[in-house]
Amino acid sequence: MQTELKPAKKHKTPIDSEVVKELIQKTGIPKIGRASIREIKKLVDQIEQATGEKFIRMEMGIPGLPPARIGVEAQIDALNKGVAAIYPDIQGIAPLKKEIARFAELFLNIKVNPDNCLPTVGSMQGSFAAFLTLSRIHAEKDTTLFIDPGFPVHKQQHKVLNIKFETFDVYDFRGDALREKLESYLSKGNIHSIIYSNPNNPSWICFTENELKIIAELADKYDVIVIEDLAYFGMDFRQDYSKPGVAPFQPSVAHYTDKYILLISSSKAFSYAGERIGMMLLSDALAARCYPDLKRYYNTDCFGYTMIFGNLYPLSSGTSHSAQYALAALLKQANDGIFNFVEEVKEYGEKAAVMKKLFTDNGFRIVYDKDEDKPIADGFYFTYSYPGFSGVDLLEEMLYYGISAISLDITGSERHEGIRACTSLIQRSQFPDLEYRLQQFHADHPTQI
Ligand SMILES: Cc1ncc(COP(=O)(O)O)c(C=O)c1O
Repeated sequence: MQTELKPAKKHKTPIDSEVVKELIQKTGIPKIGRASIREIKKLVDQIEQATGEKFIRMEMGIPGLPPARIGVEAQIDALNKGVAAIYPDIQGIAPLKKEIARFAELFLNIKVNPDNCLPTVGSMQGSFAAFLTLSRIHAEKDTTLFIDPGFPVHKQQHKVLNIKFETFDVYDFRGDALREKLESYLSKGNIHSIIYSNPNNPSWICFTENELKIIAELADKYDVIVIEDLAYFGMDFRQDYSKPGVAPFQPSVAHYTDKYILLISSSKAFSYAGERIGMMLLSDALAARCYPDLKRYYNTDCFGYTMIFGNLYPLSSGTSHSAQYALAALLKQANDGIFNFVEEVKEYGEKAAVMKKLFTDNGFRIVYDKDEDKPIADGFYFTYSYPGFSGVDLLEEMLYYGISAISLDITGSERHEGIRACTSLIQRSQFPDLEYRLQQFHADHPTQI
């Protein structure tokens, strides 16, 4: 499908506007600002190649740091010992399960039996298996509730699995207002689970203890399971969550309910995205619980057993053997207090502080800016808007200025003016370019003050 031809730019833009316009049209996507992360990536790759100009690339949430060395060495060592030839146990290798349980105790202050600490092929597979299992535990409950904004791929997983979901944007329902809003969904009786990420992708809001308590209380009241996605574990840098066994601990719903699934990615915290290994922790109470309705699909009605042998088995028959050794080594050093994984990723927060200032100095606003009454943390993502633009239009316009990101529209956000920026790939050496481009954008689109 062809998009309408836009008039030539009034101003000379940092990236050749004819090339940008032509390549946008070539995608055939009716509204480029609504494109998925990977579609934007592909387009920007093409523009960069055609113009020779480097973009400020903020569309993809990939770690911008080298992988943690301890992991790489342990993985090579495991490969040299021949594990590549051997199927790993589906429930995970014993040393990894032990270190995941220690990690939970030392960094979350919760106890989870190693039996219920499972490696998954990225946190992505953990969520897929969790959605699949949870959608089958109650014959009468067929819907997941997303506390949005959220990670778009989780919704894609729902579509693939043909599972229903409902969603609301938490922006207007922070603090005590969350209770009534959540209850309005849960009281209908069709919700089997709630999912959110904390810190949140895309907005970087973090739920307060009060909010986590509300989520847990209502989940217990309506017998709903909470899936807490901790992909950015320890990365709310306003607090120091880096010391094993020492408070403060990573905030979690697990402190307030005993029926939860925690998804912990190693992609960002350990810069280990390439090896596709994550962790799924089933609370002991949930793992042991029997749901007779599971028998409609599986041989057993026990939640933990079904998760492992009913779903993880047919999905991938376990997680890469050598990557499990890598993660076990990483966790062991973190648990022993030798490897400070939080310190390693603090760079994201430091860059975010500078970048947010460059944006706000040039007429942009931070969209999700508060956790109840506190300014949000600086971290992996932030959200911005510009007066007079929808997020979708702003995204497209900024491509002419060599700045790429994704619109909040695709994340379940109702802040249609917003854009998500990811700080990870931006080098400090690019800040002057970013500043210049934002200044030019501001000059070309004057705002009324
Ligand atoms: C909120 C959230 N959950 C899950 C993932 C996927 O994690 P993994 O790479 O471990 O599959 C991401 C990755 O960007 C994420 O942002």
